[in-house]
Parts: sequence; structure tokens; C-alpha cells
Amino acid sequence: MTKNATFLKDVNDGLSQNPKYISSHYFYNKAGDELFQQIMEMPEYYLTNSELEIFSNQSDDFIKSFEIDENEEFELIELGAGDGKKTEHLLKSLLDKNFNFKFIPVDISLNSLEVITNRMEAQFPDLEISAQQGDYFQVLDDLFLSDKTKIIIFIGSNLGNMEDEVASEFLQKISQHLKTNEKLLLGLDLIKSQDIVLPAYNDAAGITRDFNLNLLKRINYELGADFNLENFQHAPEYTEVEGIAKSFLKSTKKQTVYIKELDRYFDFADDELIHTEISRKYDDQVLQDLIEGTNFEITHKFLDSKKYFADYILTKK
Ligand code: AVI
Repeated sequence: MTKNATFLKDVNDGLSQNPKYISSHYFYNKAGDELFQQIMEMPEYYLTNSELEIFSNQSDDFIKSFEIDENEEFELIELGAGDGKKTEHLLKSLLDKNFNFKFIPVDISLNSLEVITNRMEAQFPDLEISAQQGDYFQVLDDLFLSDKTKIIIFIGSNLGNMEDEVASEFLQKISQHLKTNEKLLLGLDLIKSQDIVLPAYNDAAGITRDFNLNLLKRINYELGADFNLENFQHAPEYTEVEGIAKSFLKSTKKQTVYIKELDRYFDFADDELIHTEISRKYDDQVLQDLIEGTNFEITHKFLDSKKYFADYILTKK
């Protein structure tokens, strides 16, 4: 199926469900990538700075936890590489200590890979870097054809956008690829009170609202729909008990939307929701449950000073 055909099918299936659903996967077109960059700069979106603090203060400790011999050649694979602001602290520490490694950023977005490659090349002329474009699952299969020692990093609480079952399968897949004692550095946002988490998904400047609504804009543009953005509201939810931030788009009136590529009308009731995203928050127990069926064990945990965020080291048994 072409990319557009998959999008069309997912939108058709999702809007036919009750409750309606569209995957957050579709947030990330060019405009969505830019909005996400802006979200990361919002004062309410504490996740980025919390993890940046861990990377800038504790990269040397990460390296110790990797248990890599200084002469051993290895590959540092970053899944969902983003802009590299955090990772550059780790790269700098590794280069300062003369480790012998290749950096392999992996991302679905060519644009992101270009940004990160340019940034790292400018900053670290001696760094060996080999970007890989593609879907994580696919790229993992290809990357593991080499038998070099591997350290995988998956940060930014990106795992939180997957349902637990999918997250667990994903971790299982990574663990199956790794050899005994190889590591996954996994950055996760921690469960905490509503007054801290909810504003991160509902910033005062309305960037997260625009990010969510961009999904409808994208459907209009790519699938010929006639969503009127004025008639939908950004509606986030979070409770500490559940530990999962959820984003919805709420129809503010009874309305019908036409999608030309499907030649189909979709009815929306007043206040009807389209579920667009989950951002799961974690604690040790939630993570432990996720890795239950895998060969990973939690061997280290690094926290920021406010204890908002954790970078875990999972070691393959
Ligand atoms: C990419 N991901 C980890 C972000 C999150 O926090 O779930 C995406 C995001 N959605 C709204 N704000 C940020």
C-alpha cells in the first residue's frame, strides 16, 4: 500500500470506530515536526529540560553503566533521533574519553536526520556517523546484520506514545536483537501530579492545540476533507491514578465532514471526541511489567533533580 493509501485507510477505519480515533503517528508531517519543536521549548513541557539535565550532568555515568571496554568498537544507535540536543552531551563524553564507536541515528523523517547529521558533523568533526531512514522495526532488522556491540538509545519518552501492549512488543523485539550484556538506554517520563503533567499537554500559548488540530489540517490537505478547524477543540486529559495523558479533538457542535478521497461523510455529535494520542507516564513497576516477557532487566536508573523524568538502563540478560 502507498503511504497515502495507508493514511486513507487508517482515517477511514478510525473515524468509523466508536469512540473515533486517529493515530498520533500522523501528527508528524513537516508542519507537525515544526510544532513539536516549538512544544519542546514551551515552559510547560518539562520533559525536554528534565531529560536534558540528566544528559548534561550524568553522561559519564551512562557510559560507566554501558560497561564497554575502551578498545571495543561499538555502535550507538538512536531510535527516533529528533534534533540531537540531548544526545550531543553523551557523544561529547564518549569522544572525550576516546571511545571507538559509530553513531547511527534512525528516524522516519529525512528532515530530522539531516538536521541531526549536520549538527553533529559541525560539532564533532571526528565522529563517525551513519544515518538510517526508516521505520524503527524495519531498520532494527537491517542494523542487526552487523555483529558489532550495540547500545540502543530511545529517549524523550517516545515509548509513551505506544499502548502498553505495543510498547512491550517493541521492547521484546529490541531485546531479541541484542546480545547478552548489551544495553538499551530508555528515557521515560514519570507518573506525577496532574498540575504538572496536564499543562505540558495544554500550554498557554496554544502550541499543543495547534499540534493536535494540525491532524485535521493534514486530512483536509492530503485527503480532500472539509474539517472546519473552528468547530473542533483541543481536549487533553490526565489523572495521576491512571498515569496516562490523553489528547482528544472535541467537536463543538453537531456536524458532518466530507472526505473526498473516500467519497464519504462522517457525522459528529455535539461534544463528540476523536482520540488522537496517549502519552503514558511510568514508574519502576509499570516498566517492570512491560519488560516481563523480555530478556531485559533494569540495571540503572538516572533521575533529574526534580525527579520528573528517568533514564533507565535495561541490560539484556
Ligand atoms: C513525542 N512524544 C513523546 C510527545 C509526548 O509528550 O507524548 C508528543 C507530544 N504530544 C503532545 N505534546 C508532545
